[in-house]
Amino acid sequence: MSRKKVLVTRKIPEEGIKKLLEHFDVEVNELDRVFTYEELKKKVKGKDGVLCQLADTIDRELMDIEPNIKIFANYAVGYNNMDIEAAKERNIYLTNTPDVLTDATADLAWALLFAVARRVVEGDKYIRNDKFTAWSPKLLLGKDVSGRTLGIIGTGRIGRAFGKRGKSFNMKILYYNRSRKKEFEKETGAQFVSFEEVLKKSDYISLHTPLTKDTKHMIGDNEFNIMKKEAILINTSRGPVVDEKALVKALKYKKIWGAGLDVYENEPKVEKELKELDNVVLCPHIGSATDETRTKMSVMAADNIIAALNGKKPLNCIN
Ligand code: DGY
Repeated sequence: MSRKKVLVTRKIPEEGIKKLLEHFDVEVNELDRVFTYEELKKKVKGKDGVLCQLADTIDRELMDIEPNIKIFANYAVGYNNMDIEAAKERNIYLTNTPDVLTDATADLAWALLFAVARRVVEGDKYIRNDKFTAWSPKLLLGKDVSGRTLGIIGTGRIGRAFGKRGKSFNMKILYYNRSRKKEFEKETGAQFVSFEEVLKKSDYISLHTPLTKDTKHMIGDNEFNIMKKEAILINTSRGPVVDEKALVKALKYKKIWGAGLDVYENEPKVEKELKELDNVVLCPHIGSATDETRTKMSVMAADNIIAALNGKKPLNCIN
C-alpha cells in the first residue's frame, strides 16, 4: 500500500518532520516564505494531511481542493486562520498546539512589558548612537512595575500564566474574561471585574483573547479614552483585537504611556507611524519562538497528523 502524503507549509524543527517521515511521504515548503494562496491550493492537491501555520488561510475553497484530506494541523495555538464550520461539514480535523507554548508566550508578554516600562529599547539605541556620555539623574525615566495594577483581558492558559508572573512582582491583578476563574483568583489574588474597570484602573493592560468576531477591535478609540494616561498596553494575542489606527493616535497624542506589541492588524505589515514612535516596542510575532517551544510544537502537530491519518481522533482537535 502506498504511503500517505503530508504537506508541511513552512520549515519547522526537525523533530516534527522526523516523526512524520516515519509514517508518511512528506513534502516541506523549502522556500523561506509563506506559500501564496494559489501555491497552497496546488500543493494541497493529492495530500492526506497538512501541517500548516497561522499565515495560511484554511478556508472552504482550500478544503474542497482535495477530497482525501483528513486534517489541517495548525502550528500555533490560535486558529483564527481556519474555518471551523467548513471543516466540520467535511469531517476534516483541525488541530492546534496548546499548552506547550503557554510559558514562552507569557514570558514574551513580560519581556515587552518591561521593555516598555523601563525603556530598554530606547536605552539600547542611545548607546549605539554614542549618546551615553555620563550617568544622568533624569535619563530615560520609566515606570515602576512592582506593586502596581496589572489588568488582564482574557484568562485562558496564557493569560493565567501571565498573571501568575505578575503576582511575584507584588502586583494587584484585575481581570476580565467570559467566565470567572476561581482557581486563578486563589493563586494570584486576582479580582474578576468588568471590561471597563480593567481599562480604567490598570497601569498595565495585557491582551490574551483569541481573535473572534466579538474581540475584533475590542480596543479602539473609546477604550483608549477610558485608560489611564500612564497605562501601558501589551498585545501578544492577535493584531486585529486592537484597532491599530486608534492605537497610533493614542500613542502619538499620549492618551496612554506606551505599548508593547508582538502582533499586528495586517501582519506582516506594520503601520509606518508605529515604527516612528519611541513609546512602542515592536516584536515580529515571536511569542512562542524559543528552540524548546517550537520543537514541542512541531512534535505535537506531527502527532496530531499521525493520529488522524491512522483513523484516530487527534489529541488537540478543535472542531
Ligand atoms: C500562536 O501559537 O497562536 C502564536 O501566536 C504563534 O506564535
